[in-house]
Amino acid sequence: MSYNLLKGKKGIIFGALDEKSIAWRTALRCHEEGAELVLSNAPVALRMGEINKLAEIVKAPVIPADVTNMDDLKKLFEESMKHFNGGVDFILHSIGMGLNVRKGKKYTELDYGFNQKTFDISSVSLHKVLRTAWDMDAINEGGSVIALTYIAAQRVFPDYSEMADAKALLESIVRSFGYHYAVRKKVRINSISQSPTRTTAGGGIKGFDGFINFAEKMSPLGNATGDECADYCVSLFSDLTKMVTMQNLFHDGGFSTTGITPGVVEQMEK
Ligand SMILES: NC(=O)c1ccc[n+]([C@@H]2O[C@H](COP(=O)([O-])OP(=O)(O)OC[C@H]3O[C@@H](n4cnc5c(N)ncnc54)[C@H](O)[C@@H]3O)[C@@H](O)[C@H]2O)c1
Repeated sequence: MSYNLLKGKKGIIFGALDEKSIAWRTALRCHEEGAELVLSNAPVALRMGEINKLAEIVKAPVIPADVTNMDDLKKLFEESMKHFNGGVDFILHSIGMGLNVRKGKKYTELDYGFNQKTFDISSVSLHKVLRTAWDMDAINEGGSVIALTYIAAQRVFPDYSEMADAKALLESIVRSFGYHYAVRKKVRINSISQSPTRTTAGGGIKGFDGFINFAEKMSPLGNATGDECADYCVSLFSDLTKMVTMQNLFHDGGFSTTGITPGVVEQMEK
């Protein structure tokens, strides 16, 4: 169902890789709610070609940008502003990559070169996106920016490894840049801490099936899906949440504040 919550709004969505991606689900919902979009992803991801299917549905141009590259980001904002004939109202940062996790390196054996790249892609890239927008004055008054994160930033999930540190840094950038952009232009910046979700990035975590089933049993409402996350993004991009900023918002069916559930106890007794 559409409520026209984003009618007249223009947004950039980073990170739609395939139809399971949280960014893909969010682009579909934003389009349904009346937003005009630009889609962006790393050049290597665009070569897969999947994103063109989404672009056709949501009638959006696809503009490549490696989020670690400031020249790419500048070009992306220039082209987006040209396309929109003005600034953007919202941005979704739905990007993550754990190089050590990918290479099978344990937390106690990190390769620091990979680690730096992980932080650059998964965390500092949010600063780079915001800094580029700031320098170009690309976000309209009252705009909204969301980054996707995970509860491993607050509590230890050993197999999440270096991505836990990356998410902690990401959430800190949300608060720090959130302060400056609020004062300058009433722009809101928040992170959504999402339930485990079956996507390419999610599936990269060791033992993901056990992990997602455990979270399901530990959440009074169950795990939040990618589509439900997309709904939440729409609400935060809309004018109904103008005073919410610098927050890490749990979208996890109650997982983050639940100690134990009968479902988990039952499993332990088997
Ligand atoms: N899936 C989960 O369980 C889960 C849970 C909580 C938070 N998240 C977060 O949600 C976000 C989206 O992940 P997803 O689960 O939809 O997986 P996904 O694999 O579909 O999306 C990750 C995206 O990051 C992009 N990316 C990687 N390196 C890039 C670069 N250098 N430049 C530009 N883009 C780059 C990829 O191309 C891909 O589109 C991530 O931040 C992830 O950590 C996921």
